[in-house]
Amino acid sequence: MNKIIFDVLDSTNDYCKQNDDGKDMVVIAKEQTLGRGTKGRSFISADGGLYLSIMRHFNNFKVQNAFKIMINTAVAVCKTLENYGVNPTIKWPNDVLINGKKISGTLIENTFSGDNISRSIVGIGININNSLSSEIENIATSLSQELSKIFNVEEVIELLLKNLEKDYTLQDYTSKIDWLGKTINVISGEKTLIATAKGVSQDGRLICIVDGKEMAFSSAEVSVRTQYGK
Ligand code: BTN
Repeated sequence: MNKIIFDVLDSTNDYCKQNDDGKDMVVIAKEQTLGRGTKGRSFISADGGLYLSIMRHFNNFKVQNAFKIMINTAVAVCKTLENYGVNPTIKWPNDVLINGKKISGTLIENTFSGDNISRSIVGIGININNSLSSEIENIATSLSQELSKIFNVEEVIELLLKNLEKDYTLQDYTSKIDWLGKTINVISGEKTLIATAKGVSQDGRLICIVDGKEMAFSSAEVSVRTQYGK
């Protein structure tokens, strides 16, 4: 796959969208000025971090399999970090944490054609050597902060790209969520439900027991608070 590397970009996801000639590609930036996160949030992307997007085109990828992209990405990020000796966990649906602090996030932007996904842009950000601004230092961490050394970001990228080629299962994904079976808060707008987290369905919904009843929540509708308070 064609790989392009920039010193600075606004957003690697946006670059893919604006330069789509029908070919798959990997776009890497050493720094982003307008890094984007999920739910319209920004993603602070200072020099020293890993910021990349993978754009893929599909002929026959059914919408109902969309969560497979999230599974493969989140598990590949975990496997990559594990290689350096840390113990990452997944915060459903797309964050990767170390000791309860966020080290990585994924922004997946799909294009649809009928009930198929025709294009998927998977944007991954991982805090490696970048310093964390005061507004996020209590809730975020970096590989460098966890292990007190500086890492070769290119080497992390190569390992991540290799891991992203592998196929992971829903079981690989759920085994990295450390609050399944526990009590969590499910937050929807102003409302908070106390729930017992049970699992994640193949289509990516969080399965919980609320007041004795099984319920499934989509990540577009709710967010989750665990014992870490995030
Ligand atoms: C999140 O945590 O909300 C998702 C963050 C995704 C950040 C990555 S960095 C590379 C790619 N380009 C972007 O603008 N965003 C993603």
